[in-house]
Amino acid sequence: MAIESSRSPRQPSHAKPLVRPQVTPEDQEQREELRPRRLQEYIGQRDLKETLHIAIEAAKHRREPLEHLLLYGPPGLGKTTMALVLATEMGGKCHISSAPALEKPRDIVGLLIALKPGDVLFIDEVHRLARVTEELLYPAIEDFRLDITIGKGQGARTRSLKLPPFTLIGATTRMGSLSAPLRDRFGLIQHLRFYEVQELATIVQRTAQLLCTPIDEAGAQEIARRSRGTPRIANRLLRRVRDYAAVKAPGPITAAVAAAALELLQVDPLGLDWTDRRLLETIITTFRGGPVGLETLAAATGEEAQTIVEVYEPYLMQIGYLGRTSRGRVATEAARKHLGMFTSQGGPGVVTTSGIPDKSEIRDE
Ligand code: ADE
Repeated sequence: MAIESSRSPRQPSHAKPLVRPQVTPEDQEQREELRPRRLQEYIGQRDLKETLHIAIEAAKHRREPLEHLLLYGPPGLGKTTMALVLATEMGGKCHISSAPALEKPRDIVGLLIALKPGDVLFIDEVHRLARVTEELLYPAIEDFRLDITIGKGQGARTRSLKLPPFTLIGATTRMGSLSAPLRDRFGLIQHLRFYEVQELATIVQRTAQLLCTPIDEAGAQEIARRSRGTPRIANRLLRRVRDYAAVKAPGPITAAVAAAALELLQVDPLGLDWTDRRLLETIITTFRGGPVGLETLAAATGEEAQTIVEVYEPYLMQIGYLGRTSRGRVATEAARKHLGMFTSQGGPGVVTTSGIPDKSEIRDE
């Protein structure tokens, strides 16, 4: 059966991926001044905050550092921010690093010997740690001890150095890629989830206030709805809407102003961009709704498989537009309706021979 699609507009060649959760230089620049500093100021992630509040109070009561903590979940949800908040709550300093920057033993040794009692060592992308770095970390986190080997071959000797009590906070978007020995050394393992629209609207209001940008409740909601459950994206979209308002619609940002600005930037009412639409359209049209294997989908769309898995899929799955089955990726009926994709014999949502499954039929791999 022929399927027609309402074609996505062509991706402009200059288009910046506005709704990707990775940090941009502009995010980086404004991040520090916008971050919440205390647990009470941190919006959303209620269960996580409650668990951490208890862990902080218990650790303070025992005069011990906070338990080593592993935070996992999609990018942009506030893992680094949480590490900074926890260091403040524990009265220590947060030393921020990332696994790719810790390639050589001397990199991690330098970080460990700079720690003071109660400090937090935050390692992003912790699933990418080099083996040798990981092995240096084991005694450091278990016994606050650093074992260094001096010299080579037969003359090599091991020296142990006492480290101050500290907290390791590891962050990962890929829990499954973490080695079991490392994972098992974290006392607390916590997941960050996508934010609700109302939580994101509150974050947008807070950021707008810090940026001295007037915005009404409906304006904040409109930005929140298009932010893929992700504060980093919400704050980025707010900056773009603020630019638009300054030039085209002076005055407080309303829902209409936010919608006009984001339509212009091709961020649709659910926060999907050109690539999301293309992925879904390809599954629906080329692969009759799926299932289609990840590598095949990557080849057909020109996106990297890893980018699909880490950047696009988590949110498309969260909103029920894409599913993973044991035989590959499928697009749902809801995705087809959202894209306004018609069968040749009916309107949107008409069941077709392509057999696009309902959300309820989707099992995780
Ligand atoms: N800015 C970004 N994420 C935030 C959060 N979770 N709470 C408050 N402000 C934020």
